[in-house]
Amino acid sequence: MPEDFFPVPQAWAEGAYMDRGKREADYARSVEDSDGYWLDRAGRLDWMTPPTLANESSFAEADFGIKWFADGVLNVSVNCLDRHLDERGDQTAIIWEPDSPDAEPRRYSYRQVHAEVCRFANVLKAAGAKKGDRITIYLPMIPEAAFALLACARIGAIHSVVFGGFSPDALCGRIQDCDSTIVVTADEGCRAGRKVALKSNVDAALKDCPSVKSVIVVKATGGDVVMAEGRDVWLHEEAEKVAADCPAEPMQAEDPLFILYTSGSTGKPKGVLHTTGGYLLWASLTHELCFDYRPGDVYWCAADIGWVTGHTYIVYGPLANGATTLMYEGVPNHPTSARIWQIVDRHQVRTLFTAPTALRALMKEGDDHVKATSRASLRLLGTVGEPINPEAWRWYHHVVGEDRCPIIDTWWQTETGGAMIAPMPGATDLKPGSATLPMPGVVPQIVDSEGKVLDGATEGNLVIAQSWPGQMRTVWGDHDRFFQTYFTTFPGKYTTGDGARRDADGYYWITGRVDDVINVSGHRMGTAEVESALVLHESVAEAAVVGFPHDIKGQGIYAYVTLNNDDEANDELRKTLINWVRREIGPIATPDAIQFAPGLPKTRSGKIMRRILRKIAEGEVSAQALGDTSTLADPSVVDNLVANRQGG
Ligand code: WTA
Repeated sequence: MPEDFFPVPQAWAEGAYMDRGKREADYARSVEDSDGYWLDRAGRLDWMTPPTLANESSFAEADFGIKWFADGVLNVSVNCLDRHLDERGDQTAIIWEPDSPDAEPRRYSYRQVHAEVCRFANVLKAAGAKKGDRITIYLPMIPEAAFALLACARIGAIHSVVFGGFSPDALCGRIQDCDSTIVVTADEGCRAGRKVALKSNVDAALKDCPSVKSVIVVKATGGDVVMAEGRDVWLHEEAEKVAADCPAEPMQAEDPLFILYTSGSTGKPKGVLHTTGGYLLWASLTHELCFDYRPGDVYWCAADIGWVTGHTYIVYGPLANGATTLMYEGVPNHPTSARIWQIVDRHQVRTLFTAPTALRALMKEGDDHVKATSRASLRLLGTVGEPINPEAWRWYHHVVGEDRCPIIDTWWQTETGGAMIAPMPGATDLKPGSATLPMPGVVPQIVDSEGKVLDGATEGNLVIAQSWPGQMRTVWGDHDRFFQTYFTTFPGKYTTGDGARRDADGYYWITGRVDDVINVSGHRMGTAEVESALVLHESVAEAAVVGFPHDIKGQGIYAYVTLNNDDEANDELRKTLINWVRREIGPIATPDAIQFAPGLPKTRSGKIMRRILRKIAEGEVSAQALGDTSTLADPSVVDNLVANRQGG
């Protein structure tokens, strides 16, 4: 099938911030005169002391380190709030759309957000927070989540947001890893009409977190909670006791801004650390380039603040750019599959940025729910989080956007801070399924398994050859793990963990993870995490988890489980184990299939051959697909696995 090709629409070619020529010139300068380019770009932020230094990073072991704008001083909350007050203090900064379509949306002007953030920051201070302290945020998608991030930034505390769908155990591990002293939570969250017991999850998590001295609770639903005397306080009560004004802490560009835990191939989730100057510049610049934001536009990134997309493209990028950013509390298909499009109409959304998994789920429901709405306000559509299949791309483009809206498919990672490979609406012709071309300063390369750089149209491992301002700086508490994880597979380059193809036009097509990370509905899940959860169950001797293609989720979770006693293998235990994993990690880790396996395919040295397990989970069970199994310690286990494959 010939590749589809969508040239830049006339309206965009004329009116956009970047056209093709500008994009090319900008990119060339960003690589050839990198420091000059970035010091110029840094001027889009307000600095207390402007930087004179730009990139001082090295990917080499001898002088390894990532450093940008090191002599600059600034505060993120000032850039997102204070500096807009004169010009657009009364403009809406945040629109909040509640879970229930019958509840009233809320609007906060820049001046109101500023006031909320200053009080919140003073509440944190009153609870003992100081510059550099870690504060864990476990909130639903309510405006206070944005206020909490900015309040931390204002006083120089490092926030660590934990997605509200994570279990008490997962929360506990993330609090312990960075020794948070304060947790910010809410009584309950509200999703698809159901209550999520956040405060009681915190109570359970804190049984094992001696570092936490104080819990600040947002009253969101009014549900019953137990407040621990001397530890727990209500935000609204404390906010009345503190001053309305809170001076912003001057931060070095390389002072930490936040930690965000993300799954990798091995071990427990890593605390990805982002710092102040480079991250904010990256968030602000990429938000402008990808979404061509214009004053007055309503911009909606339908992600959760618990993920990096929410950090960069609900809060920091748009607010740094003075945008009106919409936050939605609920889920795409509640109460009906028309909800997203109704919200677009209700708030006259111009730019919608969402995940392919949501589109696939909605596409399955047919076009009527879309066509029942106007969507006339839409000008631009975006996707993030996983490869978008061309079928979903075309549906988004044709049915949702009525062929009018370019689709901005942004490839990036928690580690990269913001978009790395993505179209710009006025500058980039589109091909469905391709994230297209690199952002300024991003030097992608494709290398083979030996690390040899492949030229021209090719396919292999995607690496990035030099640092960019939004790059993560370290793994919290384990700098060596940072180096080992990302810079040793292909020495001197940042290893993304993704595979990619580059076509004859230089366009990049992300083919998915090449490591043991699976991407479930756009959420990263480490196979090792699910395996650790499974083996905690008393019946389980061993577990191996792989991803398999899933129509809606992109990838599903397939678990091979060896029991201590094979006679226990039955459907009831299967259900028990599925619930067990949900409880240990959270619903996003729910296995789609559990196959009881008396034996796993291992090499003679005891290493599990995941390649074979992946093939079986995918349903590729021919001898040719399974490849050479003669090196296995016991080749006969493969026959048993094939015979007992789950599903289809
Ligand atoms: C995948 C989310 C294809 C990729 C921002 C990456 C994508 C992982 C895309 C990072 C895209 C993200 N096309 N794949 N446009 N965007 N990915 O850290 O495998 O949650 O490595 O960051 O998602 O997921 P993370």
